[in-house]
Amino acid sequence: MEKLTGLKKIKTAVFISGTGSNLRNLIKFSKIKKSPVSINLIISNTPLAKGLRFADQFKIKKKIFNFMNFKDPEKNILSLIKKEKIRFICLAGFMKILSKDFIKKFDGKIINIHPSLLPKYKGLNTHSRAINNKDKFTGCTAHYVTARLDSGKIILQKKIKIAAKDSADTLAKKVLKQEHKLYPAAIIKIFN
Ligand code: GRF
Repeated sequence: MEKLTGLKKIKTAVFISGTGSNLRNLIKFSKIKKSPVSINLIISNTPLAKGLRFADQFKIKKKIFNFMNFKDPEKNILSLIKKEKIRFICLAGFMKILSKDFIKKFDGKIINIHPSLLPKYKGLNTHSRAINNKDKFTGCTAHYVTARLDSGKIILQKKIKIAAKDSADTLAKKVLKQEHKLYPAAIIKIFN
């Protein structure tokens, strides 16, 4: 990963599909002095992503690429990213799988946050799977994105105890709180 030089922050795009609590958290983080990144672009695959409101709130450029309507959405995303001089991508609840080709073009510069202790529970419904398996711990993982789903090199992980009374919902809340600490910490780690 390239080293930081001077005071310039690394232009970053955040890809979302949903609530955007990690997006909001990353925007807030990007504004503090020690953040190596600035958030300059928000991309969503759906106009229904609630997190898009943070683009308006924080006056950040946003663009929706409806994967159904665009013939080649990734080509369009790539050209926008190039135009905006984006050098780093954070996936934050982005529900589309990016192609091998796309990832290759941004090799080592796309990261993701996942709500489990990877390699356990790749994919969806991580919290109910952990509860159904009677796991004592779960957690969250910040990792590099590769062509294989949720399988890239781990940057940081946080372990969280599962209480007997936890439901998938209460666990999701607990984990999300830790994601908001872990994601910025992972960004600091990779650029320092
Ligand atoms: C988070 O749990 C994240 O780990 C997963 O999707 C969820 C996104 O939540 N990849 P939010 O939209 O950032 O609130």
